[in-house]
Amino acid sequence: MQIGNVERVSLGIFPTPLVELRNLSERLGGPRIFMKRDDMTGLGLGGNKLRKLEYALAEARKSSATTVITVGGVQSNHVRLTAAACNRLGLETILVLRGEEPETVTGNLLIDRILGVKEIHFVGGDGYPPKGEIDRLADEKASQIADRLRKEGKVPYFIPNGCRAIHGALGYAGCVLEIVSQLRDRGLAPDAIVTASGTSSTQTGLLLGSYLYGGGEIDVIGISVATDRETLTERISRQLDGACANLDIGITIPKDAVRVLDDHIGAGYGLPTEGMREALLLVARTEGIVLDPVYTGKGMAGLIDLIRNGRFHREDTVVFVHTGGTPGLFADSQAGTFARI
Ligand SMILES: Cc1ncc(COP(=O)(O)O)c(C=O)c1O
Repeated sequence: MQIGNVERVSLGIFPTPLVELRNLSERLGGPRIFMKRDDMTGLGLGGNKLRKLEYALAEARKSSATTVITVGGVQSNHVRLTAAACNRLGLETILVLRGEEPETVTGNLLIDRILGVKEIHFVGGDGYPPKGEIDRLADEKASQIADRLRKEGKVPYFIPNGCRAIHGALGYAGCVLEIVSQLRDRGLAPDAIVTASGTSSTQTGLLLGSYLYGGGEIDVIGISVATDRETLTERISRQLDGACANLDIGITIPKDAVRVLDDHIGAGYGLPTEGMREALLLVARTEGIVLDPVYTGKGMAGLIDLIRNGRFHREDTVVFVHTGGTPGLFADSQAGTFARI
């Protein structure tokens, strides 16, 4: 499979803007910081998943799917964007959400409802089984739903949480191509790209893009929001090997090119940290841009830390990817995060 030949549907508005954050740079004493506005991908309130869904849903269409089933947390950005994208393509969406049905419908879940998702199933609400067990229950539920749909004469297509790694890799390699060409227009080239890393396919794609469109010279740094460095590095390395083999692009990306920092997770996924609060408020108050508390706030906290620790030269060009997630700010679970500012 050649990278240019992979089928893709058009969902988002690309290229997304690349804006220079001069006030933030000045406040931090350099480097030059640019923000890739993937929160402005143009559908369902935007976010990184649209780049991946352009590939995943092309595959769904090819299989003549009528109904897309996907899984995620109750406040998943991924399921919100999957529902929005499916509406655009005339596909039904069924969601399997990990966790208890909340009393109040807020944040991403509110948007899922507004988008008119056909069915929403909540799993793992009783007794809070450990996460691995909830994941298993969610996948089991999704496969029961798929069986039922087949009996009804429908064609289900399953998208795992965060999309398959190959679709993330394709989507985010494409993002690097945009960044390189947008900076080239300004007579610049990226030294580093920084992103929040969850399931990690965004980071995998950015690193693939660094090798495809930047000769491997663009440092890609992932700030983990959930998983320890070793585990995430292994996963990204595996995903890269899989993508390179699948796409037949004749390159190998060494494991030591994978850079993950795991010191901004705090007490756990989705739980606020002081660094996240500081970063979110600083960017909002210097640049008027709103980050999210679960991913980009922690990602930006990581970037700020790297800058304060002298990781970059003043004249370096660093790109932070705003991967979206802002509806998460309005989730009931985040009600206390900025209650006193
Ligand atoms: C807003 C936002 N940013 C970043 C990420 C991380 O992307 P990935 O799962 O590809 O690591 C996600 C999803 O997990 C997300 O929803």
